[in-house]
Amino acid sequence: MLIRTSPRWALPESEATPESLYLDRRALLAGMGVAGAALAAPAMASTDVKQLAALKSRRTHSAGEDPTPLLAVASYNNFYEFGLGKDDPAANAHTLKPSPWGVRIGGLVKKPFVLDVDRYISQAALEERVYRMRCVEGWSMVIPWLGVPLSTLVAFVEPLSSAKYVRFTTLADRKQMPKIGFPTLDWPYREGLRMDEAMHPLTLLTVGLYGRRLPNQNGAPIRLVVPWKYGFKSIKSLVAIDFVEQQPLTSWNQSAPREYGFYSNVNPAVDHPRWSQATERRIGEFGKRDTLPFNGYAAEVAGLYRGMDLKRNF
Ligand code: MTE
Repeated sequence: MLIRTSPRWALPESEATPESLYLDRRALLAGMGVAGAALAAPAMASTDVKQLAALKSRRTHSAGEDPTPLLAVASYNNFYEFGLGKDDPAANAHTLKPSPWGVRIGGLVKKPFVLDVDRYISQAALEERVYRMRCVEGWSMVIPWLGVPLSTLVAFVEPLSSAKYVRFTTLADRKQMPKIGFPTLDWPYREGLRMDEAMHPLTLLTVGLYGRRLPNQNGAPIRLVVPWKYGFKSIKSLVAIDFVEQQPLTSWNQSAPREYGFYSNVNPAVDHPRWSQATERRIGEFGKRDTLPFNGYAAEVAGLYRGMDLKRNF
């Protein structure tokens, strides 16, 4: 599971940060081992954590194009717990308290535990991955995320053979999230992946962007990033990750099943019932560009869906 190959999107060694600047995977796993017991331990000052994160990261993926400026990444968002407008999250998300923060990881696993996010960030072998992101509404960005492949965590908790899917849950706290009083969705925001999607090396458990911790509006302190799927699958501000047997009910699929499927792979050939998905507007660019199957990651992920009718399983 942890074997690393050298896929097309891996950068040559010469472009990566020197080895001495980041901890290895064993250190990460050791860190996660103590995390469960240490949730109550004092959190590191977030400034320290931010600096550590920047130091230990190395760029392992490049999108082959310039990232969208930080200002746009952090000011044009979807985060409905803070409002429906694109600028609402940046204006309202200051009420979210991202530290200390625990993520409960359990369900059908041998080793459930609570991830202390501050500790995790200080110990994890963070990678910088510049991914193309495509929102279901037709806009896209290129974002330099900081994170660790979700597969590392999955391997650590040792899922039982009955675990076929992973369910992700966002915080739902009215005090910190002013708009969950509105029935926009059935809160908490929930998402899900099939086990092989969760284990795919592109799937990133993300704690930062642009070399710093996640801004609140981008899903602080920890979120999922799945670059070949529409943005709504990349659930923010996680508090629980559960391994389950049945395909989990997800918030968007539950609220509008004809519009938002469980898979939601980026697919220019399958229109949204109310608009085309064939093109997209890259934030910061004039005009539109063609949307690529699997958001340009087909060579890496198309095999996950071999034999499936992607028009039916949208
Ligand atoms: N996660 C939660 N909890 N709540 C949300 O409203 N919006 C999703 C996704 N994750 C959302 C969420 C959608 S529709 C998109 S396009 C991306 O977050 C946007 O992520 P970004 O603001 O970091 O670009």
